[in-house]
Amino acid sequence: MALSQPGPSREGWSSRTAFILAAIGSAVGLGNLVRFPAEAGANGGGAFVLFYIGCVILIGLPVLLSETLIGRYGQAAAPESFRRVAEKSGKSPAWEFVASLGVLSAFLVLSFYCVLGGWVLYYIGIFVQDLFTTGVTGGAFADRSVTEVEAIFGAMISDGPMTVILNIAFLVITIAFVARGVSGGIEKVAVYLMPAFFVLLLGITIYGMFRGSMAETISYLFTFDASKLTGPVMLAAVGQAFFSLSLGVAGMVTYGAYVGRNVNLGVTSGVIATADTSVALIAGLCIFPIVFAAGLAPEGGLGLMFQTLPHAFQEIPAGSLIGLAFFVMVGFAALTSSVALMETPTAWVIDRFRFTRPIAATMVTLSAAILGTLCALSTGALSGFHPLGFLPMFEGMGMLDVLDTFTGKITMPVGALLTSIFIGWVANKRLVDSENGLGGGLHVFWRFLVCWLCPIALTAILIVGIFPSILGES
Ligand code: PHE
Repeated sequence: MALSQPGPSREGWSSRTAFILAAIGSAVGLGNLVRFPAEAGANGGGAFVLFYIGCVILIGLPVLLSETLIGRYGQAAAPESFRRVAEKSGKSPAWEFVASLGVLSAFLVLSFYCVLGGWVLYYIGIFVQDLFTTGVTGGAFADRSVTEVEAIFGAMISDGPMTVILNIAFLVITIAFVARGVSGGIEKVAVYLMPAFFVLLLGITIYGMFRGSMAETISYLFTFDASKLTGPVMLAAVGQAFFSLSLGVAGMVTYGAYVGRNVNLGVTSGVIATADTSVALIAGLCIFPIVFAAGLAPEGGLGLMFQTLPHAFQEIPAGSLIGLAFFVMVGFAALTSSVALMETPTAWVIDRFRFTRPIAATMVTLSAAILGTLCALSTGALSGFHPLGFLPMFEGMGMLDVLDTFTGKITMPVGALLTSIFIGWVANKRLVDSENGLGGGLHVFWRFLVCWLCPIALTAILIVGIFPSILGES
């Protein structure tokens, strides 16, 4: 059998555009809109942002191409795809553990991601209520001090039954698409929602340009201060790059498995990474001017999205309307990502246990609802429960933060590191070359990145990022 012979074909995307939109839908999500501005704020702005962009180009992009390539060659759920590439290359099938680790991480991310998705639903509800009660300006957030707006958020996250129900609601919306299959459900949500997302994002950004403080935002986001680039900041940036590009969790291997032979993976990976990074930067350019214009501080953390922004919206004309548009946009982006997060373990359950898709998706949803309940309660009734609190890196963190930090700072970078070693050193070179769609100089550069730069840089960043926290220095 020729080396380039892929696994048996299966149900797939109906077109190249559908794949690109679904992959961009997976990549663009709360990671760009909530996590990126929050991490940028918490890690000193410019230095983090510029290092992040470097990570996307030099580490994220080559790993993205590696993941989609493995999926397309394997034409199966992620672990099986890894195994097929390994076996064809005459190497141990045990390499499938890299993808198994990824599937587990995707499940962990799904469990806390839908809790945040639920919060977004709550805010959409508040803004809709506003529109009906007090019109385009004013409403639940109107005429309230920052402390009062903060109290709305505080009351929501500590309301256990509410956050648990919201989490389940978001999971149910997600499974409604995943259960319908790849072309029948998963791609539909992306094909309709992603264009709507881009229109809303551009509209709000242009509004921010005219109404908000753009100059202050640009200097905040792009002033490079090298002294701020510590080990933990670098780890945060590389982790954010993987989280945002949906890497290191086998998600892009899973989506790659539905891609046809005619698609050039090198080019499409470039398109996906460019779109994702642009959205993160535009999100920064959209959020911070509104915050600065309202005279508020750009502090990091979840407070930016759920406290500072709602407060800022009431200070600007037509705030309720803009606020509603904004949270609907965030909800769309979150949904196309949670669909990818659910699909990754679901595809594995289908392949491994031969269950039908609806049953596999239901099993994943029920398990995520259980773990998600612990996450949902971790901001309220279970706030005193610190699962890994004995480790300095997780000190004082509830379940939600533990899962976010554990996946973003450990399993995703480690998964990506192992993937680059697998493609750079383990997989057969001819097999890889026949799949990557790159020509000439780009091909040589990509090989250099996956063989050398990614493994070395990721190992170094993991060491300098994790050790200070182990020693309790940050
Ligand atoms: N990339 C998504 C976001 O930025 C999150 C995600 C991670 C989705 C991993 C799928 C897999 O929100």
